[in-house]
Amino acid sequence: MAEEKTQGSGTATVDPPGENTVQVTFLPEGKTVQFEHGKLPYKDHGKEESLLDVALNHGIRLDHACGGNCACTTCHIWVKEGAENLSEMDDDEADRLDMAADLQLNSRLGCQAVINKPGKVVVEIPAWNRNYVSEEH
Ligand code: FES
Repeated sequence: MAEEKTQGSGTATVDPPGENTVQVTFLPEGKTVQFEHGKLPYKDHGKEESLLDVALNHGIRLDHACGGNCACTTCHIWVKEGAENLSEMDDDEADRLDMAADLQLNSRLGCQAVINKPGKVVVEIPAWNRNYVSEEH
């Protein structure tokens, strides 16, 4: 079945979430971003299509003191939903997370947790991270 879009302006294409769409919600702000899996421009922070990469691509502040190299814990986030759409935690990430404050069962490092399939993910940025003033560049 063909789907036609005829819009007067001719510029906007509003696609409903497709089968290859990734949707990430960042709490507590509640900001939801959406993109096509595998098509996110890489911002050179953390692993490609990591939650840090997603955040930085969409202007969401997530601290990343070590530049996404699994050498700090400032990108610590809690995964509330959609953990099954993320890469498995490797030993380096697990070892690093052991040093994180407020460690929970759903803790991940934003720079290491990679979206590995389309779907919905909801993460929360801990308060101490939100309040941290980070560089904007
Ligand atoms: S930015 Fe340092 S571990 Fe993720």
